[in-house]
Amino acid sequence: MKELISEQQVQARVAEMAHDINAQYAGKPLTIIGIMTGSIILLSDLIRQLTMPLRVGVVQASSYRGETERGELVINASLMPDIRQRDVLLVDDIYDTGHTLNEVIARMLELSPTSVRSAVLLRKQGRQEVALQPDHVCFDIPDEFVVGYGLDYQDEYRNLPFVATLEPHDIHGN
Ligand code: IMP
Ligand code: MG
Repeated sequence: MKELISEQQVQARVAEMAHDINAQYAGKPLTIIGIMTGSIILLSDLIRQLTMPLRVGVVQASSYRGETERGELVINASLMPDIRQRDVLLVDDIYDTGHTLNEVIARMLELSPTSVRSAVLLRKQGRQEVALQPDHVCFDIPDEFVVGYGLDYQDEYRNLPFVATLEPHDIHGN
């Protein structure tokens, strides 16, 4: 595997993003919802730098798929706090085709929040299949398979403090 974004670079950009989000909500209460499981590291680093009154919840979105093929997206919102008339910020690890964020936002909107915005660590260039764009993005990356800082390959590598690209032998050699 090859390091793409160092731990220091990630930490610096997450701090900038936290600063922008603090400015955007200007002290107004916020409900932040992490999309499981990829968002956990960004979620935990980000929330400790947010200064408004904050509620934290999670939602699970899993698309049952292999390496590249899309499957049906299943959303489990049973662990979410009540978001009615709340400002909501969704957090995910990566914006790839955009289907996950698009569908989770549509589901959130059914619950009558005041607003729904989104923040992601990574956005893959040239992959988007939906019109929606995340409101906050730390890094745009090339179209390569990445792991670390929450992102997994077959549920491994999420704990790496940096972002790395997996090389073909990492993917096919197990
Ligand atoms: P989307 O619905 O295509 O935007 O996919 C978003 C989800 O796909 C993310 O939450 C990740 O779980 C997964 N994903 C997309 N690209 C990568 C990658 O390069 N590495 C690890 N997971 C990825
Ligand atoms: Mg994910």
